[in-house]
Amino acid sequence: MGKNLMEEKIRLSARNMVQFIGKKDLSDIDLRWCIQVYVSNIINEFLYGFQYPYDDCGKLMNFVHKFEDSIDRFSKSKLVPVVYLLPWTRHLPIIKYFFQKHVNLFQDLMDFIREQVDTVKVDPNGEPTCYVEAYLKNNKDKRMEQLLACCSDLFLAGQETTTTTLRWAMNLMAAHPEVQDKLRAEIEVHIERDRVACMADKVKMPYASAVINEIQRVGNIVPPNPLLFHRTTVDTVIGGHKVPAGILVNGDFFQMMKSDPLFEDPDRFWPERYIADDGVTLRKDLVERTIPFGIGKRQCAGEGLARTELFIGLITLIQNFRILPLPGCTIDLEPVYTSIHAPKPHNFRLKKI
Ligand code: HEM
Repeated sequence: MGKNLMEEKIRLSARNMVQFIGKKDLSDIDLRWCIQVYVSNIINEFLYGFQYPYDDCGKLMNFVHKFEDSIDRFSKSKLVPVVYLLPWTRHLPIIKYFFQKHVNLFQDLMDFIREQVDTVKVDPNGEPTCYVEAYLKNNKDKRMEQLLACCSDLFLAGQETTTTTLRWAMNLMAAHPEVQDKLRAEIEVHIERDRVACMADKVKMPYASAVINEIQRVGNIVPPNPLLFHRTTVDTVIGGHKVPAGILVNGDFFQMMKSDPLFEDPDRFWPERYIADDGVTLRKDLVERTIPFGIGKRQCAGEGLARTELFIGLITLIQNFRILPLPGCTIDLEPVYTSIHAPKPHNFRLKKI
């Protein structure tokens, strides 16, 4: 799917999201599933060519709950690092028994992916309309497990990350009304009332870029964890340190964003830090150190898609609603610590703009 077509699908999904929210009781609303469906529908459309209706997404919710549970158990397990460091231990009887429980949970998730793949019909005469159809028609490697692995990589990596970031965005906007108002003022200058944002708007909106950078820096959703381990293939030297081949390595971009001295008062949510003295240019030195997608050869393969989803999703929500805490509530910005640092769940009070 071309970049422009993808952007159009994202804009459509964002419009559907705000239309759906607009029909709900805005005095006390949980935005989590609206955001989750917005993000899932984009990747679903790309992979399988269909979208979930907002009011009938039980299957997706069930999958997400199972996924969260698997990740939670995986990240808390004392066994997983042992098996990663010494892979042969997974054949030892007791370790094999307990490790298999993790494998079974992930197998369950694969069954859901298989169900989605099976919904795709291949039209031998037409142009492919989604990834799975294109794969089945054009890829020489016809092994089902290969296709399932590609779909699950994209679906799993692309879903929870972007959803969690947008959930952080909602908590941070509710906790910082002054930032939200300033962002909305910029939106009103550049985007007509009934138009959904597009990526061409982003270059004219430095404050929006600053806000998104700061959301990703403060949200800092990907801590070091076994899911991100890489293994060196040759002996190498990094910063003067010898790293032999076959060693597990993990770039700690989490700490860089949390404690790099370049980020003055790093715990403070303060998008203005990214704006240079001229008031319109982004500070390149800080943007370069904001690396939620990792760096190097194995940096996030979906970064372009995620950046588009974040910009269009956030701008459309703020353009249409004022996000407020529930009366008498304070937004708790302490993360829930698992393999992905999630924001604390909060309901909001929304006011239509
Ligand atoms: C805000 C959203 C996202 C964040 C913060 C994020 C972050 C990351 C990070 C930190 C990595 C690991 C980099 C490393 O190991 O050095 C990664 C890898 C990856 N991401 Fe994302 N990601 C996001 C969205 C997406 C989306 C939308 C997709 C695809 C649909 C995606 C697909 C992938 C894939 C396939 C990899 C593995 C790349 C490889 O190992 O070569 N991600 N992502």
